[in-house]
Amino acid sequence: MGVGPRRRRTGRPLSGGAAVSAPGWGRSVVENRSIRADPLSPEPTPPPGDRPADGADDVGREPDEPAERASRRLFGERAELGLAYARRLATTGVEWGLIGPQEVDRLWRRHLANSAALAPLVPDGAVVCDIGSGAGLPGLPLALARPEVTVRLVEPLLRRSRFLEAVVAELGLAPQVTVWRGRAEDLDSAAEVVTARAVAPLGRLVGWTKHLFPHGQLLALKGERAAAELAAARPQLDRWGLRAEILTLDQATVVRVWPARLALAVVP
Ligand SMILES: C[S@@+](CC[C@H](N)C(=O)[O-])C[C@H]1O[C@@H](n2cnc3c(N)ncnc32)[C@H](O)[C@@H]1O
Repeated sequence: MGVGPRRRRTGRPLSGGAAVSAPGWGRSVVENRSIRADPLSPEPTPPPGDRPADGADDVGREPDEPAERASRRLFGERAELGLAYARRLATTGVEWGLIGPQEVDRLWRRHLANSAALAPLVPDGAVVCDIGSGAGLPGLPLALARPEVTVRLVEPLLRRSRFLEAVVAELGLAPQVTVWRGRAEDLDSAAEVVTARAVAPLGRLVGWTKHLFPHGQLLALKGERAAAELAAARPQLDRWGLRAEILTLDQATVVRVWPARLALAVVP
């Protein structure tokens, strides 16, 4: 299976296979407009397609659970790694402007549990391509929850991809997890599962990613807007020969999209 940038126009792989270099954490980051557009920042003024965490806005129902317990529940034997990732999000992630400080108190419920909710939907041993990973969501929690799954984190922005590389190195997740700097449209890396959260409205997201799952599926974490986005995207999906359904899970609402010619097994 070919993995790599389709064109070199905007992206390059930062790391592949086992070779992952870890930049230092001390890098200073200047606030800029892209930070304000981040879904995790307090006052997003997002451009269309970079909307607030639209996969996370329906998961605030449960009371907070202590981090250690939540990590054991989500990541089992990798609970320590889950805690280390959460610490990194809450420290460097905030310092680098990848996550809003107000998110720190609800990291587990709103972000890690929401992301890990995809784990039961991914086939054994699958290759997963997480588009627009940002600070690693949902790709890193998914990788922690499913050690036998291969996860490629795809992120075009330099600062975010550096953060991802450093987290992968710190947690010792290579070669299970690799980081690609680039845009979905520029990749040629078919995967069994493509994941995305808060990257773009469904129609645009599918337009960017449909070449990545010719024999697989897209799992788009969407919140309350799932039904409306799916309705709006239906004509495009029909034109592209794609089927879709909404899966309502405990911690997430997911739009699943797959080629109509594939008989995809019904998931729990
Ligand atoms: C709003 S953030 C969401 C980050 C993360 N998925 C989350 O849920 O916290 C959207 C991310 O998508 C990335 N992105 C935007 N357009 C993209 C594209 N065409 N291909 C891949 N990533 C893209 C942005 O750089 C940004 O990091």
